[in-house]
Amino acid sequence: MLIDGTAIAQEIQAEIKSEVNRLTGRRPCLAVVRVGEDPASKIYVSRKIKACEEAGIISRSEHHPNTITEHQLLGIVHKLNQDHTVDGILVQLPLPDSIDAIKITQAIDPAKDVDGFHPINVGKMLMGSTDGYLPCTPLGIKTLLERYSIPVSGKHVVILGRSNIVGKPLAAILMQNQPGCNATVTVAHSKTERLREVCLNADILIVAIGKPQFLKADMVKEGAVVIDVGINRLPSKALVGDVDFEHVQPKCSYITPVPGGVGPMTIAMLLSNTLKSYRQTQNSPQRYRGTEK
Ligand code: GUN
Repeated sequence: MLIDGTAIAQEIQAEIKSEVNRLTGRRPCLAVVRVGEDPASKIYVSRKIKACEEAGIISRSEHHPNTITEHQLLGIVHKLNQDHTVDGILVQLPLPDSIDAIKITQAIDPAKDVDGFHPINVGKMLMGSTDGYLPCTPLGIKTLLERYSIPVSGKHVVILGRSNIVGKPLAAILMQNQPGCNATVTVAHSKTERLREVCLNADILIVAIGKPQFLKADMVKEGAVVIDVGINRLPSKALVGDVDFEHVQPKCSYITPVPGGVGPMTIAMLLSNTLKSYRQTQNSPQRYRGTEK
């Protein structure tokens, strides 16, 4: 069965829109900062802004040239941290080599870090705290599994890829003693031995390694759930995931397509995190946000 990420993302965005429409005070606001001319970033950011607009969330987007200095970008982040009308701050990655992305990520107020990349939020995630922000792609995958009522508890989840954005946080999330989690998680990567055997042991296989059509049918157990996080452009210009979809699909109980699987969920979760940040300010207006005095 095909997991329709576009439909679930639309469903969630409609839920967010209806909550935003019921608000009486100011609207939630997401600030998006893009630096340089990375073509993929340009597309991703425009999709995020469009989704905000459709849901009634204000988006404030800035684009800066490659020549912006780290100091200047830190200044922009500090200003957004102090702006009480901004609920979420997203600095699109990758940044130019001249800028230390870790430094920028750490400068964002953890209370506005709707990407969930700040060490405070990474720590909260690892400890199972629910008042931080989970990174959007892993949260989108967890949500897809939930909305399709795919059992995760006690299942063997194999994650291919150990990135800070997907593999590592997803492992941390799905292993928690929490509803929708309680998985037995294996993280495999480029140095993993007997990778095929590891994959064949998976009840749920999540592939995030950035190699087009890497996961082949002989690596998948009959009836497994396969989640494809990859987005790759072939020389033929065709868009494919990290899974050899045509041959893997017949073996799966559930599989996500590319496009239309995980991608739209990432954006829906960004809106959801922005609304979560907004709600936290409404519940305690006097609360100091993170680094502010
Ligand atoms: N670049 C690729 N994915 C992401 C993401 O989820 N957030 C940000 N800020 N940059 C990215």
